[in-house]
Amino acid sequence: MSISLLELIDIMRHLSFIHYEILLIMEKSLRRFEYVPLQYIAKKVRIKPNKLEEIMDFLLKYKLVKKKQEEYIGYALTYKGLDAIALRSLSMYGVITKVGPKIGVGKEGDIWITYFDNEPRILKLYRISKECFRRIRVYRYYYMPNKVYSWYQLAFRSAQREFRALTVLYNAGVHVPKPIARSRHAIVMDYIDGVELVKARLLNPLDTFSKIIREIVKAYKVGIVHADLSEFNVLVTRGGEVYLIDFPQYIVSSKPEAIKYLTEDLARIVNYFRKKYRIDPNDLKRIINEILKEEGVKI
Ligand SMILES: Nc1ncnc2c1ncn2[C@@H]1O[C@H](COP(=O)(O)OP(=O)(O)OP(=O)(O)O)[C@@H](O)[C@H]1O
Ligand SMILES: [Mg+2]
Repeated sequence: MSISLLELIDIMRHLSFIHYEILLIMEKSLRRFEYVPLQYIAKKVRIKPNKLEEIMDFLLKYKLVKKKQEEYIGYALTYKGLDAIALRSLSMYGVITKVGPKIGVGKEGDIWITYFDNEPRILKLYRISKECFRRIRVYRYYYMPNKVYSWYQLAFRSAQREFRALTVLYNAGVHVPKPIARSRHAIVMDYIDGVELVKARLLNPLDTFSKIIREIVKAYKVGIVHADLSEFNVLVTRGGEVYLIDFPQYIVSSKPEAIKYLTEDLARIVNYFRKKYRIDPNDLKRIINEILKEEGVKI
């Protein structure tokens, strides 16, 4: 289920300091409780449980929390609750001032256009559902004590990883969107005015191919292999520049398996140009070898 961010922003107008304080307490206790006991929250905020229950019901009405009544009264944070905390801190830090349309629903995240003044920025909110657990396991996450904590951790880790990769790459001059800020499972980056490679009609495919390979090799040199690169994760601008995106599953170049992932990334790009533009794969491989040589990389 994907919720509307605009609806959430509307809800956020009704929230006051105490609501956020409670949501933050619930976030902090995720590791300890699947459902945080009402009594526990009451003690932390110094409000009597019966008065607090009214406030909690308000959060419940807007689905920022879930409630359980068996054994004890307890509440769990929902994705929507977490979105509210993340959006609040991003707007408090002045990173985004307005939310625009949703432009993508990915396997692991929702992508929104947002604005800082009138400048467009991309907001990526990670949503890890059960279906992605299999793919995610590759990253070797750890012990997961409860359901809410585990999705929180996975979404948080993915955002953290992507933000880290973008920072290293951007600082090294590799063509990726400039990372701007992260809060929990949310990252904000520059908007690239382009289209996915799969949707582009290239006038000079060999030139674009070379540019993509050069970015892949530059990324490898600064320690990062994308590991899920394809015609869907490359953006091409009108001016013919290329940008690599979508990095949560990246592999560090020094890992023994990095070369395998690098070779697979290269192979998917080669395959795409071979099929779509009917280019002889030997020509493509020659270009790759030239770039590897120029960049001083042996694989
Ligand atoms: N910085 C950006 N600028 C412009 N468009 C972007 C940007 N980042 C993402 N997009 C658009 O949103 C789409 C999804 O983004 P991304 O690939 O990062 O997310 P994803 O959830 O991992 O998607 P998937 O799982 O389908 O690969 C991209 O294919 C692209 O069209
Ligand atoms: Mg993608």
